[in-house]
Amino acid sequence: MHVNGEPVDALVPPRLNLADFLREHLKLTGTHVGCEHGVCGACTVRVDGDIVRSCLMLAVQAQGTSIETIEGLSDSGEVADLQAAFRQRNALQCGYCTPAMLMTAQDLLKQSPAPDRDAIREHLSGNYCRCTGYQAIVDAVETTARARLERSS
Ligand code: FES
Ligand code: FES
Repeated sequence: MHVNGEPVDALVPPRLNLADFLREHLKLTGTHVGCEHGVCGACTVRVDGDIVRSCLMLAVQAQGTSIETIEGLSDSGEVADLQAAFRQRNALQCGYCTPAMLMTAQDLLKQSPAPDRDAIREHLSGNYCRCTGYQAIVDAVETTARARLERSS
């Protein structure tokens, strides 16, 4: 597989999930693990361009794929404006949900450059945040969407 653009070749136990592989074998600890049951969304990564819950995918199923984690998106600058908006809007407190929230928000903005607040809430509804009450997160995503549209016009 490739992870954040780098080739990765590993032999893993058949039951190791992708989240644990990324965290424990590759030390990419920006992928968080909350529920381990596909509920909280904290483990969201991109696999071949689509966001997936990496706790629900076996590492062996990722053979031949291209994986992107929050470290890759952060290093490339792809989510720099979203990160800044989250900071400015106080859209994080403990930060546990934040990497996955950023990945999911970026996924939305790639599909839909001008989402309304309901669409933002709907797209982020699989990502749980126990701290913020979501209002500031929706604000940050909405602000970023508007700024991107202004820059592109
Ligand atoms: Fe994967 Fe919660 S840890 S969805
Ligand atoms: Fe704490 Fe979202 S900021 S869980």
